[in-house]
Amino acid sequence: MAAEMALIKPISKFNRTLPKFRNPITPKPCYSYVKMSSSAPTTSPKKKSTAKPKKAIKETLLAPRFYTTDFDEMETLFNTEINKNLNEAEFEALLQEFKTDYNQTHFVRNKEFKEAADKLQGPLRQIFVEFLERSCTAEFSGFLLYKELGRRLKKTNPVVAEIFSLMSRDEARHAGFLNKGLSDFNLALDLGFLTKARKYTFFKPKFIFYATYLSEKIGYWRYITIYRHLKTNPEYQCYPIFKYFENWCQDENRHGDFFSALMKAQPQFLNDWKAKLWSRFFCLSVNSTSCLYVKNYYFHRTIPKLSLTVKNYMAGLRDNVSQ
Ligand SMILES: [Fe+2]
Ligand SMILES: [Fe+2]
Repeated sequence: MAAEMALIKPISKFNRTLPKFRNPITPKPCYSYVKMSSSAPTTSPKKKSTAKPKKAIKETLLAPRFYTTDFDEMETLFNTEINKNLNEAEFEALLQEFKTDYNQTHFVRNKEFKEAADKLQGPLRQIFVEFLERSCTAEFSGFLLYKELGRRLKKTNPVVAEIFSLMSRDEARHAGFLNKGLSDFNLALDLGFLTKARKYTFFKPKFIFYATYLSEKIGYWRYITIYRHLKTNPEYQCYPIFKYFENWCQDENRHGDFFSALMKAQPQFLNDWKAKLWSRFFCLSVNSTSCLYVKNYYFHRTIPKLSLTVKNYMAGLRDNVSQ
């Protein structure tokens, strides 16, 4: 996941704790040398002297949430015996795309990161730390949800399950890359602790579809807009992570395309008047959250350094979305 859905409140009384993950998550190694796990990391006493101070995310209205859903209903929705709208050929094609793993070698760090971080001082340094923390939490939220969906749908629909697992690979890589960025500031986000300690927001499957689809697509446009702006104004490139956004956003775009295919297979979530109203509500909520996030974290704080104004950011976003 790339954008946040922080402002969307739980729909009802549901606010469940983490479903227990039976399998420790062991992602495919990637070139940023990130290890990601949904269980708490074990801390070796020998490494005490080199360990970065671990941080917990500051809980605010805009903090990205973690999500859980009704996995039994998900199993029914993706059962090919029950749901004849599932286009198996389309999902097979999507699976091949994910297996190609276009960004396997993309997230390679270099010495520019630490040098750039050392130059960021004063309030701007704190702003960058918050930006990295928040983005890392949002990506990690996607990792947890997709990993569990991959596990739970394995028997019902192995193709869809594998796509979810491969999307969790991508999100783990994104979250890990951002957490590595925090190490440039001598910090690390304690993702194992977050996994266990944070509250999970429950959404019914149809709300998961609306929210994650929008979140992925908005994340895509945000990344590409910032990337393009900095490409034409390289003098404002103050931290190298933005250089990675071009390929990175393609992962988010593929995730959004997958959710688009999922929703096509569930026409009951799209075609009646209730579905249309809910779609509009989520469109408004996810966009408002994203705009507030962008306003608070990019424009009032990070973006002045990048010289991207609210006006030209929104113009860029509008042009891209209308394409
Ligand atoms: Fe992501
Ligand atoms: Fe994503």
